[in-house]
Amino acid sequence: MSEILKVKNISKKYENTIIFENLNLSVQKGEVLVIVGPSGCGKSTFLRCLNALEDIQEGEIILDGEVINSDAHNLRKIREKIGMVFQSYELFPHMTVLQNVILAPVKVKKIDKKEVTKKALELLNKVGLLSKKDSYPRQLSGGQKQRVAIVRALMMEPEILLLDEITAALDPEMVKEVLDVVLSLAKEGRTMLIVTHEMQFARAVADRMIFIDEGKIVEEGNPKEFFDNPKSERLKRFLNNFNYVETN
Ligand SMILES: Nc1ncnc2c1ncn2[C@@H]1O[C@H](COP(=O)(O)OP(=O)(O)OP(=O)(O)O)[C@@H](O)[C@H]1O
Ligand SMILES: [Mg+2]
Repeated sequence: MSEILKVKNISKKYENTIIFENLNLSVQKGEVLVIVGPSGCGKSTFLRCLNALEDIQEGEIILDGEVINSDAHNLRKIREKIGMVFQSYELFPHMTVLQNVILAPVKVKKIDKKEVTKKALELLNKVGLLSKKDSYPRQLSGGQKQRVAIVRALMMEPEILLLDEITAALDPEMVKEVLDVVLSLAKEGRTMLIVTHEMQFARAVADRMIFIDEGKIVEEGNPKEFFDNPKSERLKRFLNNFNYVETN
C-alpha cells in the first residue's frame, strides 16, 4: 500500500472559533475511512478542507506527494484528483442525467465526447440507472439523484472520493440502494473518506473508523475494535446514541 493523502497538523479556525487543531491523518491508496462524530464537530469542514473548498490556518495537506495550496493551477488539479458528493446532489435541473454526468469531463478535462459518453453509460448501468439517462433530475427519486451524483464524481476518475452524509436527506427505503453503490466502490478498491451516521453501513464498508469530537481525533481503529471495544468514554457514549445492531 502507498500513501495517497497525508494531513499534517492542520488547524481550521473561523475568526475566533477553533473548529479543529493539530489534526493528523494518513490515508493509504485503496483505503476506506469512515469518519463519525457528533453534529458540529467539524466533519464536513474537514472534508471541505481536503478539497480546498475551505482554507486551513496551519499545517499541510499532501495529496499524492504534493502539498495542496489554493493557487488556481493547483486547485484545478485537486478538484480532478478529489471527488466529492454531498447530501444535496445539486444536479443541473435543465440537463438530462447523461448531460449532467458528461459535462465536467468534456468541458474541464476536454475529453472526447464520444469516449466520455461511453464511459457514462457504463457507469450509469453499474448503478442501475441506464434507463434514466435521458430523464431530468426532477423526474428522479432522491436515491436515483444521489446515484447520478456519484456517477458524476466518478466520471472525473478521482484518486479519492469524499462522501459527506450522502444518504442523510433520503427516505429510508432509498438509503440502501445508494449505500450498495458505495459498498461496490469499496470492493473495487477505491479510496474513500466517508462521513455517515449509518453505523451498520460504516462497519461494513470501513477499513478504519475515525471518531472526531471537539476538534480532535478521539479514537480510531478497525471497525470491529471500534464498535465492539470502544476505549474512550466519549466514543462509548456516542455509540450508545445509535440503535446499532451487531451483525457479525
Ligand atoms: N462558515 C462558517 N463560519 C463560522 N462557523 C462555521 C462555518 N461553517 C461551519 N462552522 C462551524 O463549524 C463547526 C463544524 O461544522 P461542520 O459542518 O463541519 O460540522 P459537522 O461535524 O459536519 O456536523 P453535522 O454532523 O451536523 O453535519 C460548527 O460548529 C459550525 O457552526
Ligand atoms: Mg456535516
